[in-house]
Amino acid sequence: MSTTGQSRAVTPSDIKDMKGGTPIVSLTAYTTPMAQLMDAHCDFVLVGDSVGMVLHGLPSTLQVTLDMMILHGQAVRRGLDRALMVVDMPFGSYEASPQVAFAAAARLMAETGAGAVKLEGGVHMAETIAFLVERGIPVMAHVGLTPQAIHTLGGYKVQGRGDAAPMLMADAQAVSDAGAFAVVLEKVPTGLATKITEALPIPTIGIGASAHCDGQVLVVDDMLGLFTAFKPKFVKRYADLGSQAEAAVEAYAQEVRTRSFPAEEHGFAD
Ligand code: KIV
Repeated sequence: MSTTGQSRAVTPSDIKDMKGGTPIVSLTAYTTPMAQLMDAHCDFVLVGDSVGMVLHGLPSTLQVTLDMMILHGQAVRRGLDRALMVVDMPFGSYEASPQVAFAAAARLMAETGAGAVKLEGGVHMAETIAFLVERGIPVMAHVGLTPQAIHTLGGYKVQGRGDAAPMLMADAQAVSDAGAFAVVLEKVPTGLATKITEALPIPTIGIGASAHCDGQVLVVDDMLGLFTAFKPKFVKRYADLGSQAEAAVEAYAQEVRTRSFPAEEHGFAD
């Protein structure tokens, strides 16, 4: 099953039902025009807190606020007719308690029109996930490398290797049991990602977690070559738009300085 021929809006239940079928397609988006480009091709669009790094030049996702997520969520919403929109809960907006998480998630859903929220964490977030789901908020979970926890994880490392595998399996199982409709697996070794995918009744969405997951997500600026500060190993560049944009700016600057732009046809008759 794929949602791409479908004219009605994709729901979290549709994503859940795609378990084991045609791989689920997703990208991040932060603006209306990008969302418009993706709507016909993606099953869900993630307004990721990666927005802080790729659009705002922040050093990590830790500085992203709820207001930033709401603003970008509203922009993306205006570009989508069909694909499900999932909005990331930013660092500090949900960890303190299930009640705090509910207040933040309710604002995200009400003010952006999102169909679901995503939050990071496994066993320790299971109670919060259950609390949100019981109160009508569909949750996508995120385990493995959880970038909001880089300071406790010690950097952007592969997770779940060797002795750490059972803990990561337990994280994935816990978020699934808590009622998440799908789970992102980030930077998880192929063998473990395969086992988790086989064990869970909900779809796994991989980012650096192999083609054995039920779907894939990438940060759009990475795959289009617009974010070039660094390139994670799991990213494939499908375009080099950053270089093309810089070449266009250089050509413009040169034409302005030599008075070849604007030309006759860009002006107005008296
Ligand atoms: O913020 C984000 O873009 C994400 C994806 C990398 C999964 O969480």
